[in-house]
Amino acid sequence: MSASYSTKSKLDDYFAEVNQGKEDMQALIARGYDSLNAARYILLRITDSTLAKNYFRILIDTYITRARKSSWKAFTEKGDPKTAVHLAFTHSGLVQLGLPKAVTGTFSRQFIEGMNFTYPDPGDPKTIIRERPQLLGDTQRNDPGNWHWGSGEKWVDCVLMLYAECSNDLQVLINDAYEKIKSGVELIHMGEDFEYDPKKISKEHFGFSDGISQPIIKGLSKSKKELSGDNLLNPGEFILGYKNEYGHYSPSPYVSSNPGEHTLPPLPGAEHKWDLGKNGTYLVFRQMEQHVEAFWRFHYQHSKEAAVTREEKAVKLGAKMIGRWPDGHPLVTCPSGTCDPGMESLNDFNYTASDKDGVKCPLGAHIRRTNPRDQVHTGRSPQDSLVMSRRHRMLRRGRIYGPPLVPDMDIEKILCLVRNTPAPHNRDDVHTQTPIVRGLHFICLVSDIERQFEFVQNVWANTSTFANLCNEVDPIISPRPPEGQPDCHDFTTPQQTIRKRYTNVPQFTTIVGGAYFFLPGIRALNYMMSETSKINV
Ligand code: HEM
Repeated sequence: MSASYSTKSKLDDYFAEVNQGKEDMQALIARGYDSLNAARYILLRITDSTLAKNYFRILIDTYITRARKSSWKAFTEKGDPKTAVHLAFTHSGLVQLGLPKAVTGTFSRQFIEGMNFTYPDPGDPKTIIRERPQLLGDTQRNDPGNWHWGSGEKWVDCVLMLYAECSNDLQVLINDAYEKIKSGVELIHMGEDFEYDPKKISKEHFGFSDGISQPIIKGLSKSKKELSGDNLLNPGEFILGYKNEYGHYSPSPYVSSNPGEHTLPPLPGAEHKWDLGKNGTYLVFRQMEQHVEAFWRFHYQHSKEAAVTREEKAVKLGAKMIGRWPDGHPLVTCPSGTCDPGMESLNDFNYTASDKDGVKCPLGAHIRRTNPRDQVHTGRSPQDSLVMSRRHRMLRRGRIYGPPLVPDMDIEKILCLVRNTPAPHNRDDVHTQTPIVRGLHFICLVSDIERQFEFVQNVWANTSTFANLCNEVDPIISPRPPEGQPDCHDFTTPQQTIRKRYTNVPQFTTIVGGAYFFLPGIRALNYMMSETSKINV
């Protein structure tokens, strides 16, 4: 079904090139740490740059996990390192470290401005132009003014990411790599993960399997099964300093005078410039609260999908909003829900030939908007659509936080609970339903924030006319106005005879924090902590 983009010899070249960079790369680029079940994201502000740099130097020398396996001391059964530590900086963090403007100014505009960039209207300074919140849909309930971190007084300079096999091991790691040795930093927010049960496949809080469709980086995967197909992408889509899907290097930050002993590689195609981005990447972090009861209550009360019981109808509508059944089977290849348990791949499908009109998987489903595959709805051929979709992929590294609403996130049990609890008076009053918060720490790695993450969120997810739809946005990740306001309230499920339209659909997730980070390579980290970096222009 899928096209092969690479001959073996070409892939060998990628392996050789990427392999060279592994010693320099933070391992989060190469691995999602499926077997590390506990994680913590520590969001920090730098209060004293000299002390903070001392602390970060210790982290780099002793803790930061490189992609090269030979540098790991111990392994899990699945071949992950037993623990992992990563460090990434926002633009304000780089400024705090003392990097001159001539260097910080070479990062991408989106990174420099940040996730909640606003500015006074030049013609009327009293009016604030809310450029990026508007573009990302961070308005009304998602407004950065309400965030727990990443905006206003709660801005952050860096994130320390810690992973371990279980929460006890994680606590030891937090003590060793943070509590005992931290200096020059102040805690702004502690992002606590929910500890996964390793025996079960990973699910997000609505109860659907997650992390199925992922890009595979040429030169990183060894699995023969993965070495062809639409998911196999050039390393430069996700790692700076390599060629991307256009055959070019994505714009990378650089320094313009010789970095001296902390050698950075030369910037490709430029003289007297050194690549600060090489083997690093941009990291997009959005904390998204999930309103699980509201999600399933809506489906239970309103689903008109063809099924016998109200519970089955609810599950079918939920699956249509996501684009997959709760067990991960895609609606396109498994429309009835009774799927071949031995189905080889959950991800080998496209849309044009098998479901052009969205009868199996609605055109506005979450997975269809965030990766339209061979049907980008711009009049392009399936082949051209695939080429386009491949230029907007993201390497997702998120994890859920907060306790599940019911054990195992079992949807039958969630529906039982929803059936037996009174609905709130106000549809949007999500916190009276469950005072305990839960959600997704959405994290993705991209070499171009604007072309990958922002494009997907803005153009594909938040656009109400995507795929010639009307008055609807992504049912999972886009903002919807409060009850009573007319716009973007719908979700449609095309059917053989007449489509079903759901109106007054609530917003099922709320953004409560976020920032754009730079996840540097090890050489870049060392450079940033050196005294040379302060004077380099
Ligand atoms: C609470 C928030 C979210 C939930 C519950 C959620 C849930 C899911 C689920 C269940 C899948 C299907 C499993 C898979 O293919 O891996 C999926 C896929 C995906 N999601 Fe999300 N997601 C969320 C946020 C986001 C955000 C913010 C983005 C990007 C802007 C995003 C982009 C994607 C992409 C690219 C895919 C894969 C589509 C494909 O290649 O077929 N998701 N998501």
